[in-house]
Amino acid sequence: MRRPSFRLACGRNIGGIRGLLPETFDRADRIALVADPAAAKSPVLKKLLGPELAAKTSRFPLPAGREKTLAAVTALCSALFKAGFSRQSVIIAAGGGSVTDAAGFAAAVYMRGINWISVPTTFLGQIDAGIGGKTAVDFLGTKNIIGSFHQPALTVCDTAFLSTLKPSVRRAAAGELIKYALIAPGDLRLSIMRSFDGAMAGRPDDLLACVRACAEYKAKICAADEREETGLRETLNFGHTAGHAFEVLSRGRLPHGEAVLWGLRYALEVSEKMKVLDNTPGAWKVTGMIEPLPLPAACRRENDFLRLVRADKKRGGRDNRFLLLRSPGDVEPADNIPEKVLLAALEEI
Ligand SMILES: NC(=O)c1ccc[n+]([C@@H]2O[C@H](COP(=O)([O-])OP(=O)(O)OC[C@H]3O[C@@H](n4cnc5c(N)ncnc54)[C@H](O)[C@@H]3O)[C@@H](O)[C@H]2O)c1
Repeated sequence: MRRPSFRLACGRNIGGIRGLLPETFDRADRIALVADPAAAKSPVLKKLLGPELAAKTSRFPLPAGREKTLAAVTALCSALFKAGFSRQSVIIAAGGGSVTDAAGFAAAVYMRGINWISVPTTFLGQIDAGIGGKTAVDFLGTKNIIGSFHQPALTVCDTAFLSTLKPSVRRAAAGELIKYALIAPGDLRLSIMRSFDGAMAGRPDDLLACVRACAEYKAKICAADEREETGLRETLNFGHTAGHAFEVLSRGRLPHGEAVLWGLRYALEVSEKMKVLDNTPGAWKVTGMIEPLPLPAACRRENDFLRLVRADKKRGGRDNRFLLLRSPGDVEPADNIPEKVLLAALEEI
């Protein structure tokens, strides 16, 4: 298979994508459109495929959320096999992060890996989840435990998809947007902060400005540290150790982005308690740009929270590993944070 690239197209009403990757599409014997039903019926998707690709395409629905499981991936691979899909076939994954994660993982393992195109259709997907080739399913009650790095041959972020999002789904991107505003260089922070309110209100120009800024930043980081080996890509996980624990403990009541908002607040508390965060109010101001949904009581159960933090796959052989913030744009890893600090921060938020 061709060495994966980081080709990224961002825009509004991009139109036919065949011309963006003609070799891959022309070589493909079949195309599987694995799509969330909300994305599948969007006229934007029809325009992206155009008549030529549509003629080669079979549809495989993958509803969001509950389908980010090994069982869903097995069912998808079984359907692809029975329908005669080969190593020369291509998967187009269209949907939110749960669909691009699961369909991307199917592409990573089907016949030892086939080409795939990522078409994120939620705001969170376009600024983060659909970019960078991390594919995975949740397993044994823990996030993203079975997965693979498998780069899409192309990622297409067309913000015309975002016009049909429910406001609550649009707002769920706030956590990842604020994460970028905390970890990225000053110019990106400023451009996110300028467009934040407009994007939350669904204004097309602000949505596009945020998608362009974040998607291009993430693609650049992932190109420099594709498999999270140098520490650079790891900074994108800021707020996610506690965020993933909150997401699991809330049993679906906190969408990923809301859980990340709480995870960011938690990470700042730990940064403060470990005397790493400088005392300028900048970082707290950034997390204050939006009020998260209330944290469910189940997320505050100390033993469950500590168990999940200790099960986080990024901890390696250590008891726990967190990313702490020194100041906006400056993140550092910290291992084996004392339990009393972890619990005090949980109490505080
Ligand atoms: N791989 C990564 O790097 C990465 C990064 C961040 C998050 N994630 C994962 O992303 C997932 C969350 O993704 P999400 O927030 O996009 O949620 P999601 O995939 O669950 O989708 C949210 C909702 O949006 C609907 N939807 C999708 N596109 C739509 C459209 N165009 N119009 C109307 N409705 C539409 C879906 O039907 C669903 O109800 C989590 O599983 C998280 O772990 C992955």
